[in-house]
Amino acid sequence: MSTLEAAQEPRRLLEVTDHVLEILRRGGADLSQLGMPAPADEDRGELWEDVAVPQASARALAWRNSMREAAHDDYLKWRFADLDANQHPKVLRGWLNSLVEAKRRGARPTTMHLIAPGNIGTGKTTALAALGNEASEQGLLARFIKHTTYLTWRRPDGGPGDMTAYTVRKRHVEADLLVLDELCGEMDSVATEFARRETVDLIDSRLSAGRPTAFSTNLRRDSIAAVLGERLLSRIEDRAYLVKITGPDRRTPRKPLDW
Ligand SMILES: Nc1ncnc2c1ncn2[C@@H]1O[C@H](COP(=O)(O)OP(=O)(O)OP(=O)(O)O)[C@@H](O)[C@H]1O
Ligand SMILES: [Mg+2]
Repeated sequence: MSTLEAAQEPRRLLEVTDHVLEILRRGGADLSQLGMPAPADEDRGELWEDVAVPQASARALAWRNSMREAAHDDYLKWRFADLDANQHPKVLRGWLNSLVEAKRRGARPTTMHLIAPGNIGTGKTTALAALGNEASEQGLLARFIKHTTYLTWRRPDGGPGDMTAYTVRKRHVEADLLVLDELCGEMDSVATEFARRETVDLIDSRLSAGRPTAFSTNLRRDSIAAVLGERLLSRIEDRAYLVKITGPDRRTPRKPLDW
């Protein structure tokens, strides 16, 4: 072996180790169980923009990125003051204050869930976007995701970019406030078993960690019970505010095409 090769050898071994660790990480392994430091990874997708960002900005960025990922940039402008009475801004504000206060005291919020049912186009996503916008301004790490997107992302290689299924779950379990939009929307019967398992896991894990979740849906209670099961639904309802969003479809009415 030449002197040059000998000098390179240790580096090659390290590269192999890194490669194996990368494969394990992508497969969703918890590296801390293998005695390795937890990957500095989880928020790499957000923090890479500026590694020196202070914590509060990083939290705000997490919310904005989740809205962008959902193609909802245009909902970032909404605040409680912009909502109509039928979007119950007072209830939303009161709940948010209780969450901020609970976090400050390191306590578990008394009301863990907020359910916003309503017909199509009544302003549900807008109301919950205002909640998340204000929450992230008050220092909570909030995230927004559509329920079906979460399920897609949890499938092997289903996540955006190089995000593993493990990271997808971790991010959404660990957020201080999760807005889960369109609960049980666009689900077919084939998706049901996987959907139920993943949703039970997400909601149960957030509940046991004391982390609150806001849901929107345009389905009736029975349809949600059919997908998630009565047990999970009653856990969701157990300590929840129900904020029914009423009113007409706000989108400009469009006649269906004749075809
Ligand atoms: N308070 C408000 N004042 C004016 N416009 C509003 C208000 N709330 C919502 N809108 C507008 O109404 C439209 C529908 O709102 P949004 O997307 O929140 O409805 P949705 O209930 O989530 O609809 P979907 O059932 O399709 O998910 C959007 O264009 C939004 O900007
Ligand atoms: Mg919506």
